[in-house]
Amino acid sequence: MNILEHIKQELPWLDGNTVYDLTRGKPAPEQLDITENYYSKLSTPYELDGIDLRNYGNPEGLPSARELGSKILKTNFDETHALDNSSLTLMHQIISCAFFLGFKSAKLYGHSKIICPVPGYDRHFKLLENFGIEMITVPFQKDGPDLNAIEDLINFESNIHGIVCVPRHSNPTGHTFSDDNVEQLFKLIEPLKENFSIFWDNAYACHDIEDTIQQTPADQIAKKIGLENNLFQVGSTSKITLAGSGISFISSSADNLSKFIDFRNAITPGPNKMNQGMHVKYFELVSIEKQMSELKKIIKPKFELVDHILEPIKDTGLCFYEKPTGGYFYSIDSAKSNADEVVQTCSQLGLKLLPMGSCFPYGVDPDKKNIRLAPTFPDLASLERCVTIFKNVLKYLN
Ligand SMILES: Cc1ncc(COP(=O)(O)O)c(C=O)c1O
Repeated sequence: MNILEHIKQELPWLDGNTVYDLTRGKPAPEQLDITENYYSKLSTPYELDGIDLRNYGNPEGLPSARELGSKILKTNFDETHALDNSSLTLMHQIISCAFFLGFKSAKLYGHSKIICPVPGYDRHFKLLENFGIEMITVPFQKDGPDLNAIEDLINFESNIHGIVCVPRHSNPTGHTFSDDNVEQLFKLIEPLKENFSIFWDNAYACHDIEDTIQQTPADQIAKKIGLENNLFQVGSTSKITLAGSGISFISSSADNLSKFIDFRNAITPGPNKMNQGMHVKYFELVSIEKQMSELKKIIKPKFELVDHILEPIKDTGLCFYEKPTGGYFYSIDSAKSNADEVVQTCSQLGLKLLPMGSCFPYGVDPDKKNIRLAPTFPDLASLERCVTIFKNVLKYLN
């Protein structure tokens, strides 16, 4: 009997028709139902903060939406703008602006290289690849990016013009950077501050599901070291309210924000203030803390289920992972360099996973071990089946 036949015999519920999917970090319908429930109680505001929401203007966003952003990202109100629906789009626009106009201390060129801690967010890497920016990978240490590897790059590589980080519950590894790590990292960057961009994507700023260390706001550490013009923080309410229909935020120095508005003024005559108004009203009704605690009730059992199923094979050395304390992902390393075969075998059994290498620049995982699991979307019963397929495949292949 081959592996597929063995597993099909062990899992008699595999019917060859049902599609199981752990590819994308999407909120589950039940999470969105929470938002819909409160949302439906709101009446649409047409004026807020003395501003006519129906019209163009306010390129920096509504003051009360900016306040919301500064609360989520733990940034200063003055240095936080509330914009449209996607922080990934903002990253694209920041990078475009760095390319075409250049910020005071953050410019990008065709020969620029960006440091990428790996495994990381696939869309960041695709974005940078689309700009033709060379990505140089570094591994993680326990509490953030590997500082020795970064020091070596800074000492021996030319044209290093930036780094991209997800500092809390990193996608997909779940790393949360310690203050010490961030301070040391920024000190390493300091000699390059004439031209260096720190892309600080805080997509999971308030997405703790277990106790997680508190972090000093990155802008406070940056200011202490004189890097305020190098830091670009972004985030959004995509994984807080409605994915793709929320508000995104940018925080940077006044100088950078003014350049960014100038750049964006040729892209849009103003952000979607109606949506911003709805979100402001939403968080008058439900605090961020209450919203996140309701979401946690749905997400936490899913993360615990993944750990419950995989822990025995982790303990016997068939795979390795750190249980994340928040965010949206599990990052699993197979014990053998066979991630491709694992993904293919799962696919033949009806479970879709991201292709091997997805969490690495150019799709190349040098160790061929890493596999990302996104457990939030399926319901618990379906998730149990997804992870059981994955576990059985690892058992047979490793
Ligand atoms: C690290 C990270 N940044 C950004 C995004 C996308 O956020 P947005 O919907 O605000 O573009 C995601 C979504 O998975 C993510 O994991």
